[in-house]
Amino acid sequence: MAKRDIIIAPDPRLKKVCTPVDKIDSETATLMTDMLETMYAAPGVGLAAPQVGVSKRIIVVDPARGKESPNPHMIANPEIVWSSEDTKVHEEGCLSLPQYYEEVVRPDRIRLQYLNENNEKCELEADGFFSVVIQHEMDHLDGVLFVDHISSLKRGMILRKLKKTKKQMAQESN
Ligand code: NI
Repeated sequence: MAKRDIIIAPDPRLKKVCTPVDKIDSETATLMTDMLETMYAAPGVGLAAPQVGVSKRIIVVDPARGKESPNPHMIANPEIVWSSEDTKVHEEGCLSLPQYYEEVVRPDRIRLQYLNENNEKCELEADGFFSVVIQHEMDHLDGVLFVDHISSLKRGMILRKLKKTKKQMAQESN
């Protein structure tokens, strides 16, 4: 496994609609395990392929948050086949928008179909925190960031600050 670099917003690679995976071959399986390693090292609870510069419909999640035993999921081509009408508000963050947290409203429960790392068709049901993480990561596959769910005023402020931080970091590393 190898850690990969996480892309920080704003960046055009985070705004693309990703393409489905045909089949989980060894290259895709390696990408999935690299993504898990990158996520755990960050540390984070979810990561989407575009965040490491790969425009494919792949996400990894582990809602255990280090308190419980690890519960990793490697997910390709996720489709939400059902979602509850009842919604919940959660404070979300993102490894591509470090240090920023905002409340986002999403369906509380979802049912998901996907391909796992062994190229098997799977289905799972998620609620609460697990459901939020999956929906957040799936948004990335359509070029959507959690700040796209909040007011444009707040979004603009966060992205401007991130842009400034990135510029400063680039200057320091020169
Ligand atoms: Ni994110």
